[in-house]
Amino acid sequence: MASGDPQRIRHPLPPARWPSRDEAAAARWFSPIQIGQNLTARERTWVPAMVPWRATDDGLVTPEVLDWYARFAEGQPGVLVVEATGIRDVASGPLLRIGDDRFIPGLRRLVDTVRERSQGRTRLFIQVIDFVAVRRRPEPEKFFGRYLAVTDSLRAQIALGLDDRRWLGASDSEVREFLVGADRVTIETVLNDRELEALDYGYRERVWDTHLDHIRELPRVLPALFAEAAWRAREAGFDGVELHYAHAYTMASFLSRLNTRTDGYGGPREHRVRLPLETLAAVRERVGGDYVVGIRYLGDDVVEGGSGLDDAVWFGLRFAEGGIDYLSVSKGGRFEDAKQPKIGEAVYPYTGRSGYECMPTVISDERGPFGRNVPLAASIRRALRDGGWSTPVVTSGGITTFDQAEAILRNGEADCVAAARQTLADPDWFRKIRLGYGAQVRRCEFTNYCEGLDQRHKQVTCKLWDRQVDPADPTLRLASDGRRRLSAPGWSPPGEEAGARVV
Ligand SMILES: Cc1cc2nc3c(=O)[nH]c(=O)nc-3n(C[C@H](O)[C@H](O)[C@H](O)COP(=O)(O)O)c2cc1C
Ligand code: SF4
Repeated sequence: MASGDPQRIRHPLPPARWPSRDEAAAARWFSPIQIGQNLTARERTWVPAMVPWRATDDGLVTPEVLDWYARFAEGQPGVLVVEATGIRDVASGPLLRIGDDRFIPGLRRLVDTVRERSQGRTRLFIQVIDFVAVRRRPEPEKFFGRYLAVTDSLRAQIALGLDDRRWLGASDSEVREFLVGADRVTIETVLNDRELEALDYGYRERVWDTHLDHIRELPRVLPALFAEAAWRAREAGFDGVELHYAHAYTMASFLSRLNTRTDGYGGPREHRVRLPLETLAAVRERVGGDYVVGIRYLGDDVVEGGSGLDDAVWFGLRFAEGGIDYLSVSKGGRFEDAKQPKIGEAVYPYTGRSGYECMPTVISDERGPFGRNVPLAASIRRALRDGGWSTPVVTSGGITTFDQAEAILRNGEADCVAAARQTLADPDWFRKIRLGYGAQVRRCEFTNYCEGLDQRHKQVTCKLWDRQVDPADPTLRLASDGRRRLSAPGWSPPGEEAGARVV
């Protein structure tokens, strides 16, 4: 729950009843679904994108990336979506990238690994993302000494604040020196909102900053960048590509009601959806009609002035008309309400109220974290069906039991049920349930230790894995801090040798 929220109720995990092997075999969750023209997923179990911070600083696939996805593949989900992968050929830390053909061979190895380790049972998609600049919160001395642009309007604000016109002609260094020594009240008086935000939170661009050339040009450059990335995904052998139109990033910001661009790409809904639709069209054109193209987007921004469910329903219909093959509905995760970062750290979009809604924890309001976002997917799906569209809809957020997932499918609230953190806690959980060993599922505690690691850009692991450490195990690998298991403990069905696999 966002700090300061009046309700801080600790919820127990929902009780779990696990099905027998026969019951699982007849379950909807383990039944096939067609996605797009030609693809069938063997199950409606789904692992949504999760960034593990395991790529090289150049965005290349590493052995650790392969291990991360191999481990999920061993649980044989119907669909596994590879983490948000950058579409530009620019440095972005240890996040995967797909902005140039040189990334294809590594991604192809990832595809081969998942095919082999899932025994061909898992369909593999890759999420592709664009984001605009977000800088770390600066040291105030550095901010005033270097980063802040000294403009005439800043000089005018100082002159006004000090009632001294001589500041109108002050030199750059005089202004900087003055601000370094100024008290907080003065700083708040002379800086504008964006400058103050850059000081307190770190500089952050908006997609409606059309005074910046590269932001103004986004509608001209993004369709081709996404289209080329999607083409590379196909070349690398992925079964599909997921356009990241969710959370704090570029496309979600175009869709948001906060988008005030006046160039036909902001303001009314019809304009806000224009670039996302033009991008979808460019992607479709590049990869062909038979390749799976999905969209992950927000059922609700959960920020003041942002888009709500009515927008999301309307967007969903437009995406269906645009030829989308599935819609994966998420919620929140925006920068606008994020907590102030420490100096030297970047603002993290999963901290404020919208962040809570994206990855809800057991400390919650009375509704609790479990299946909290299902109504959004259900409304979007209902509107699609009413409009004559059979587009599959994926829901996620606090899914942790078989009965939860079955009920969602039975009630027609979604077509696929995704679990991120529960699958992180136990990558084998789908297979355990399918084979009748549900009682052995290691259950996620929904307290977000993993999210804390993500926030600090550390290799993501689950705290539960560390309860099973055998130092004599030759396969045991630790995170770079030397203290945590880098992957989940192995599992094989009782009676089988470790490492042996059954279908
Ligand atoms: C460590 C971590 C990394 C994540 N990275 C992504 C991402 O790259 N793209 C994305 O759309 N969602 C990302 N998410 C959000 C999840 O896909 C999911 O929507 C969210 O965790 C709620 O589902 P859950 O309750 O099943 O965990 C991430 C979540 C976690 C915990
Ligand atoms: S670290 Fe906590 S919230 Fe994250 S997957 Fe593990 S148990 Fe779940």
